Amino acid sequence: MKEKKIEIEYQVYQDMSELSKEDAELLTTARTITKQAYAPYSRFRVGAAARTEKGVVTGTNQENASFPVGICAERSLLSTAATLFPGIAIDTIAISYDNEKGESIHPISPCGMCRQALLEYESRGGKPLRVILSGQSGEIIIVESVSKLLPFAFTDKELS
Ligand code: THU
Repeated sequence: MKEKKIEIEYQVYQDMSELSKEDAELLTTARTITKQAYAPYSRFRVGAAARTEKGVVTGTNQENASFPVGICAERSLLSTAATLFPGIAIDTIAISYDNEKGESIHPISPCGMCRQALLEYESRGGKPLRVILSGQSGEIIIVESVSKLLPFAFTDKELS
């Protein structure tokens, strides 16, 4: 038997003033786009903004009275990106939220299903997909590749 350990590296920034101009703009877009979410059930509005070489794509969570039909902001963004800019990699995605029941001062990170979807997109793009996580204010986390967020992932390699 061997004990093994997986460690992930990520960066923590105190606020937006520490980010590059490009990353700050993307995070501002993610924070602002939360207003377009349709979240009458959870009252938790998520916004995502992705930078590609063809331009910025956004996504928000879109809920449904039949709860499982709802879609997260990240996967809504990925569908849009793949449709508008087929074959184009996403360089960075920023994710933020608004919570009617509480504050938005801590980063949230994508749910498991969205991590799986983001990983596939990273693989399609052929280069690391960076992730910026933050609330409307407060500290910001940056992960240099989606793969860091999903160790032991199930990938296309398993299907071959
Ligand atoms: N949600 C997202 O849009 N992204 C996530 O990564 C986590 C959760 C949405 C789904 C649902 O509409 C609401 O947030 C509460 O779970």
